Amino acid sequence: MSERKRQADAARVVGVTKNSEDESELSLRPRKLKEMIGQEKIKQNLHISIQAARERGEPLDHVLLYGPPGLGKTTLSNIIANEMGVTLRITSGPALEKPKDLAGALTSLEPGSVFFIDEIHRLSRTVEEVLYSAMEDFRMDIVIGQGPAARTVAMQIPPFTLIGATTRAGMVSAPMRDRFGIQHNFDLYESDDLNLIVRRSAEIIGVEIDADGSIEIARRSRGTPRIANRLLRRVRDYAQVRANGVITQQIADEALRMLDIDVLGLDPFDQRYLTAIVEKFDGGPVGLETLSAMLGEEKDTIEDMVEPFLMRLGFLNRTSRGRAITRSACVHLNLPWKNPEPSEPTLPL
Ligand SMILES: Nc1ncnc2c1ncn2[C@@H]1O[C@H](COP(=O)(O)OP(=O)(O)O)[C@@H](O)[C@H]1O
Ligand SMILES: [Mg+2]
Repeated sequence: MSERKRQADAARVVGVTKNSEDESELSLRPRKLKEMIGQEKIKQNLHISIQAARERGEPLDHVLLYGPPGLGKTTLSNIIANEMGVTLRITSGPALEKPKDLAGALTSLEPGSVFFIDEIHRLSRTVEEVLYSAMEDFRMDIVIGQGPAARTVAMQIPPFTLIGATTRAGMVSAPMRDRFGIQHNFDLYESDDLNLIVRRSAEIIGVEIDADGSIEIARRSRGTPRIANRLLRRVRDYAQVRANGVITQQIADEALRMLDIDVLGLDPFDQRYLTAIVEKFDGGPVGLETLSAMLGEEKDTIEDMVEPFLMRLGFLNRTSRGRAITRSACVHLNLPWKNPEPSEPTLPL
């Protein structure tokens, strides 16, 4: 995503790009596996892997985490380092431009550390290749000098655990993926889990919320904890200014309506996206490229931040020929249902 798009998304209330206010998320971030809500399967599996590695006194196997933004990949990496009792070093694919950037980071690690690479699918090919031997043998071959005088030096690096995060598994090359012993896919959260997350966050930031108030926020958070926390803050502001500070269902509804977030959590962009499919393309199927050009939004942003939730709602099908809207989406948005040909099976993201 370009910087301009990133800023635009950060400004979108239900956008998932982190903005400066989300920095206070730090205090909302669970620190232990036990405090993390939902994603039961991932937690159970990791609990076993972590305990086994600790008992053997070895670093944890390399971990690949994938799933849409805002679901807890960075949080979980912090938790893993905490549970292993080791330090965490955070970087990202685009920040590691050259093999020497990687060498610098890896050689200075404390033995056993967690090395976290966010957006690992954006590593350059050359960096990716040196990373392979680092992951397998804790060794890096670095070329020093140029031309005929160039020579390769093998460098030993301390044993470490690599955690890679990416929004889609399909964007990581197969040889890269094969080198991760542990791989977990984050799904959007169920409302029940989001409800618990909202309650927990409300307690931490010190706002009073009743049971229906938190259900309302959870239901409109697009299955995403980061959005749930963001909506909670907005609703808190509203409750403070327009009511007595307590978040009830009615207050949550009024506040979210003012933010143009509908009862299911759709924002104006989602509505524009779905409406375009109906009005310009007869309900689809229509290719992502075409939609992206028509809406002036990057393909990646649409794929990572808009479509997963629409598919979860059953509002969108992805077929081999493109995106198609469903009947229930038309019903929800009060759009005519043009009854396209029977839909093909939906392709996974
Ligand atoms: N399972 C969870 N339980 C409680 N809070 C969570 C959970 N997952 C995410 N969060 C909250 O959502 C925020 C965003 O999570 P983050 O780890 O930054 O997502 P990602 O790295 O996948 O984009 C965190 O700061 C945290 O407050
Ligand atoms: Mg992250």
